Amino acid sequence: MGDGSKGNLFLRYTVMMTSVFILMGIVIVPFTTGDEQFFVIFALTIAYIILLVLMYHLFENYVKPIRASINVTNELVKGNYNVRTYVKPAGEAQQLSELINQLARNLQEMYIQEKMQGSQWKTVINNMESGLMLIDERGYVHLVNRKFLQLFGENSLHYIGYLYYDVLAHKSIHRVVQETFLYEEKMTGAITLSIENQKHHIEVVGAPVINDVKELKGAVLVFHDITDLKRVEQMRKDFVANVSHELKTPITSIRGFSETLLDGAMEDEKLCKQFLDIILKESSRLQALVQDLLELSKLEKEELQLSKKMIHIDEWITNITTLIEQQANNKSISFKVNLEKGISFYGDPDRLQQVVLNLLYNGINYTAEGGEISLQISSDKDAVRIKVADTGIGIPEDSIHRIFERFYRVDRARSRNTGGTGLGLAIVKHIVEAHKGKIEVESEVNKGTTFTVILPKEW
Ligand SMILES: Nc1ncnc2c1ncn2[C@@H]1O[C@H](COP(=O)(O)OP(=O)(O)O)[C@@H](O)[C@H]1O
Ligand SMILES: [Mg+2]
Repeated sequence: MGDGSKGNLFLRYTVMMTSVFILMGIVIVPFTTGDEQFFVIFALTIAYIILLVLMYHLFENYVKPIRASINVTNELVKGNYNVRTYVKPAGEAQQLSELINQLARNLQEMYIQEKMQGSQWKTVINNMESGLMLIDERGYVHLVNRKFLQLFGENSLHYIGYLYYDVLAHKSIHRVVQETFLYEEKMTGAITLSIENQKHHIEVVGAPVINDVKELKGAVLVFHDITDLKRVEQMRKDFVANVSHELKTPITSIRGFSETLLDGAMEDEKLCKQFLDIILKESSRLQALVQDLLELSKLEKEELQLSKKMIHIDEWITNITTLIEQQANNKSISFKVNLEKGISFYGDPDRLQQVVLNLLYNGINYTAEGGEISLQISSDKDAVRIKVADTGIGIPEDSIHRIFERFYRVDRARSRNTGGTGLGLAIVKHIVEAHKGKIEVESEVNKGTTFTVILPKEW
């Protein structure tokens, strides 16, 4: 483009100059004669050539570079920082061209840096785990991040440029914004949102945006999803309530029967023995409960200290079988053991005994007289499988996923009659997971239940 118009301009000036010289020739030459005439024509021709060369020089060294510089500057103004002008190796305009190119390079660098910084901020803001909204001092929304949109739905166009109270319906958010503006301090509130049919608890924090000269410029709202925290808090509350409830029953009973005894029932020997039996049974329940609770709290400590040893199954199992055989006999339940010989693996022998005993006791407790329980241990290259099966009452399908919860029982009364605390399987699960293993349940109501503990050999 520059070259074309330069070419034109140069041509125009050449034509103009040539015309002037021809005119001068036409006017002057008729007034001369002979040698004089030859001299005039010669002088005019020389002058013409010198002027032409001079003009060409001016064009090349001044007009052309200046025009190129103008073009480049024009592009820079438009925001195209990739352009560079041609630098002639010599001539007065060389410096100008070089400076303009330097300027273009600096601008380009600044632009790239700014773009990178901008995109870094964008990345940070959009990948924050909390929702974010920026409001100016008049209440108009300037920015929302990705998490915010996940929480509140819609896209950013729905919010940006609108007044916050027109796009957010929650009164507590309005209150947080108003108080943040009023007191110019951090303010908090809470809302609940329904996201994909699930209730989410959101904490709203408003912080004022204050500039260098201490003027309020707006507010930043941050939205934290605290649903999980709430759940943990609720679980703790439930646990305390459950523990109190579990403790209350035997204590009430012990107290009631002792009072009755003191009120005179003591005199009747038969009644006295009956009541003392109950008191003994209830205090055993209390003891079992406290023991299980202590055990659980030990297991839940940050780093559970397992005392790992090489376990040789054949020795390790004898303790378990003697205990269980006796219990099973008492209830006329047959007990079968099926062991693969010579299995050994690494683990905490006492705790794993606790696991197997708990599962077998459950088998006895939830199987009617005449039933059968079995223990099967096998091993392959990577893992040991301990299978405890019974032919008992089974677990309804909708309860299976809950039986490892603390205090969960399918049938509260039955569990209590067997002396269960509702904590056995919670303890089992903890121990298995501390060994990096897993536990699986298969059950059919009135047919029986099978628990399988899978323990990795290497860990
Ligand atoms: N082998 C089983 N057969 C049927 N139900 C079982 C069996 N093992 C556990 N359960 C159910 O799981 C619940 C929780 O078990 P657990 O934590 O050991 O507590 P509990 O003290 O009641 O035995 C029991 O109350 C029972 O309803
Ligand atoms: Mg149990």
